[in-house]
Amino acid sequence: MASLMKDLSAAASAAFEAMGLEARWGDVRRSDKPELADFQCNGAMGAAKKAGKIPRDVAAEVAAALKEHEMVLSAEVAGPGFINIRVSDEALAARAEAVRGEKMSGAEGAPDPQVTVIDFGGPNVAKPMHVGHLRSAVIGDTLRRLLTFLGDDVTGDVHLGDWGLQMGHLVTELQDEQPDLIYFDASFEGPYPEDSPVTIDDLARMYPAASAKAKDDPARLERSQKAVAELQAGRPGYRALLKHFIDVSVAALKIDYEFLNVHFDLWKGESDVDDLIPELVERFRNAGIAEEDAGAVIVRIARDSDKKEMPPVMLINSRGGTGYHTTDLATIMDRMENLKPVPQRMLYVVDQRQALHFEQVFRAAEMVGLIDEGRLEHIGFGTVNGPDGKPFKTREGGVLRLADLNAMALEEAQKKIVEAGKLPEDMGAEERDQVAANVALAALRFSDLMNTRTTNYVFDLDKFTSFEGKTGPYLLYAAVRVKSLLRRAEADGNKAGDIVIGHDAERALVLQLDHFATACLQAREKRMPHVLCEHLYNLAQAFSSFYAALPIAAESDDATRASRLGLASAVLKQLETGLDLLGIRVPERM
Ligand code: ARG
Repeated sequence: MASLMKDLSAAASAAFEAMGLEARWGDVRRSDKPELADFQCNGAMGAAKKAGKIPRDVAAEVAAALKEHEMVLSAEVAGPGFINIRVSDEALAARAEAVRGEKMSGAEGAPDPQVTVIDFGGPNVAKPMHVGHLRSAVIGDTLRRLLTFLGDDVTGDVHLGDWGLQMGHLVTELQDEQPDLIYFDASFEGPYPEDSPVTIDDLARMYPAASAKAKDDPARLERSQKAVAELQAGRPGYRALLKHFIDVSVAALKIDYEFLNVHFDLWKGESDVDDLIPELVERFRNAGIAEEDAGAVIVRIARDSDKKEMPPVMLINSRGGTGYHTTDLATIMDRMENLKPVPQRMLYVVDQRQALHFEQVFRAAEMVGLIDEGRLEHIGFGTVNGPDGKPFKTREGGVLRLADLNAMALEEAQKKIVEAGKLPEDMGAEERDQVAANVALAALRFSDLMNTRTTNYVFDLDKFTSFEGKTGPYLLYAAVRVKSLLRRAEADGNKAGDIVIGHDAERALVLQLDHFATACLQAREKRMPHVLCEHLYNLAQAFSSFYAALPIAAESDDATRASRLGLASAVLKQLETGLDLLGIRVPERM
């Protein structure tokens, strides 16, 4: 069953079309004034103006057609030509039943499902993940869940950063620490040892050490640059080390991502497309758009209409090495050639500060025909700031590692659930830990997702983990509360039954349930998870008003009680579906 809003829009659009006017004027939305109407249609004014008709006349004709519809209780013209619509109690009841019974909890599939790659996470081997990587992981994973839910064929790719200077730093640092390792013996023919010569802690220590040394010491930098060049050229010992570095890093990354309930279909990285680079460069050469420039190979992508400077894309640098542009282009080629079905779209969930990079890469990719125009999208996001409004740093002034951030959130959640008295007395230690982990997860994910993707936000763990306000824990608790209400009713022998709508608080609740379909589609279309967060928060609030206004399990009339329990289970179902799309896990009890 489609949403009431969609059905009404279809009916209003048909009425406009019957008058020879465009269907788009029939767009119906929720009323700004719930005391006057459930829905409204404001198209008559625009339609009349365009057609040279009188707005109120157009509105009256549409309203008359709407009244014919069985779900419409009333459709009245107001002011210059607004149409105020009320739907019947029966239509609301049927809608609530659909939410309770349908697999998608009232959502509808996307009208234009696409084969889509989502490139997110983007952690760098050996460099610790920081809060910026948190945003990419959480927003990307949520889009992956949402698009999949709405029918897109989605592949999530972590796109590891494993091809840059940091790999050279690791190789040289390791050589200084353990010069006798077989990997440094250029005459050795393999096979190399299976076990890694380093742990994740070694990597975490070695990279910053090498990078600091290279800052003050050009010779040290030079060595690392040479090591990357040799690695990229295929020196076997270095390749074997690269594999160890990646394996060790990926194992650690998986732990951090698991804590955040973030999942990937592909664990590919920049280094995986290395052998495609000659073919890529060839394609640019054959298309006549690659230029030799002082030993480098570049592609000019600037257009006359550009308002800002558009530096060329660097395919091969003057040392013969390849960088961030090249690996991104080769990755597009790889995905188009090797993924089945062939991707129709690629979304890059990466910090807004990389906007220029993606603009350059996308232009070059389109120019050489790797993919059709307009199919590559940079889904940029704002920065996570500290209380001082600057990018978030630890008290010591360093970047906060994701693993430490997760641990901090967990600790804070443990504190908050005790303070807020959210733990049943009979709850054992294991279940408590599970609840705390779920609260921490809800806090981190929701506080990030509820902010409009493109804006910056201030990191405030105390606020994020609070059970009050627009927070993950608040929503989690709202869902658990409905769960336990239903569980208690069940234990008392009270079952949910047919939904019947009688009160305003019930109407308001079903109208909110009806909005889920629109919220999901809008969140997908704009790639904006906050639209879904907003809906779920409003749903929790509507349930809370309903709960405060009317008795549920305590209602004495059997049919009414069964109906309200039915309504409560529809709410729980949609809340759980929605929270799952946000990657938030709901505990059984709290
Ligand atoms: N590793 C990069 C970074 O940390 C992000 C990668 C984003 N994805 C991409 N295809 N470029 O900045």
